[in-house]
Amino acid sequence: MIYSRIEGSGRHLPEKILTNHDLEKLVDTSDEWIKTRTGVERRHIASKDQATSDLGIEAAKKAIIDANISKEDIDLIVLGTTTPDYVFPNTATLIQEGLGIHGCPAFSLEAACSGFVYALSTADKFVRSGSSKCALVIGAEVMTKLIDWEDRSTCVLFGDGAGALILKPSEEQGIIDCKLGADGKYKDLLWYPAGVSKNFDKLGGNLTNLEMSGNDVFKVAVKTLGNVAEDTLNQNNINKDELDWLVPHQANLRIIQATAKRLELPMNKVILTVHDHGNTSSASIPMAFDVGVKDGRIQRGQLILMEAFGGGFTWGSVLMRY
Ligand code: UT7
Repeated sequence: MIYSRIEGSGRHLPEKILTNHDLEKLVDTSDEWIKTRTGVERRHIASKDQATSDLGIEAAKKAIIDANISKEDIDLIVLGTTTPDYVFPNTATLIQEGLGIHGCPAFSLEAACSGFVYALSTADKFVRSGSSKCALVIGAEVMTKLIDWEDRSTCVLFGDGAGALILKPSEEQGIIDCKLGADGKYKDLLWYPAGVSKNFDKLGGNLTNLEMSGNDVFKVAVKTLGNVAEDTLNQNNINKDELDWLVPHQANLRIIQATAKRLELPMNKVILTVHDHGNTSSASIPMAFDVGVKDGRIQRGQLILMEAFGGGFTWGSVLMRY
């Protein structure tokens, strides 16, 4: 049996950091409220001329070095993003060009904060079927460009960044199972209500911003993430105590704690970056994974569960041995 296995990872964060104390000067909020309600302490913010592709290119370069491959080995690029550089060409092609490689398929997937698990699940299918021998999978976002900096209910939550993984086929166990789901009936609980075929005149302007019914999203997220995490383990005959690491989407510390509780997992088995990165949408899981690998916590052979939830709603999980 052929598995797809992670060969290397990388992350890139913009230099500029915005702390909760900085935000206290912009809106009626407090470091205490943000920390206790979300877990966020600071977030990285892309500069005016820093695009999603710029962050994705830097993360990809680090993953290529980490995997000890040459960029020419890459035969597939899949990017999860909600904040593409342009309407077209898709941002994965811009990353391809920025890396100086040509010819391989490169495409973006749009599944809000679940974008990376959707991208990883898609690339896994290419690798396991033999269509790809070396896939670059990226989650990259500049969510802060969609933010209304006068709306305290959303501007304190998000940050920017990119994470990348290199996937290769292996006879050793790698990705074991991916589960994806969506339910469009919840679309207006978390959305940016402008695009190409609706409200195009408002796109990118200050008239339209990301809108979220935070508390409603919170409730569905806790329930759905708990269900998908438990189902993934049950359907693969894995006991909760066999799991080494939970690498969750980093939207809110309280949501992560609820999922960990449902999995009976102590918080020291959860990779947390929400305090440093905020919610970076599709970028949060690959960046958290890279943090855990680089600081030595995530080791080869360990059992890892990734899980995400986002606008749509969309959700998903990836169970793997590293
Ligand atoms: O990544 C994709 C998925 N996204 C998520 O999973 C996010 C899910 N939602 C959440 O993380 C939480 O719902 C939030 C962090 C967004 C909000 O936390 P909450 O505990 O659900 O608060 P709330 O929306 O119920 O608001 C409670 C109070 C309100 O005041 P009143 O009405 O009780 O007087 C808000 O106006 O907190 C107020 N509030 C704030 N106060 C200080 C809202 N934002 C702020 C703020 N600073 N930044």
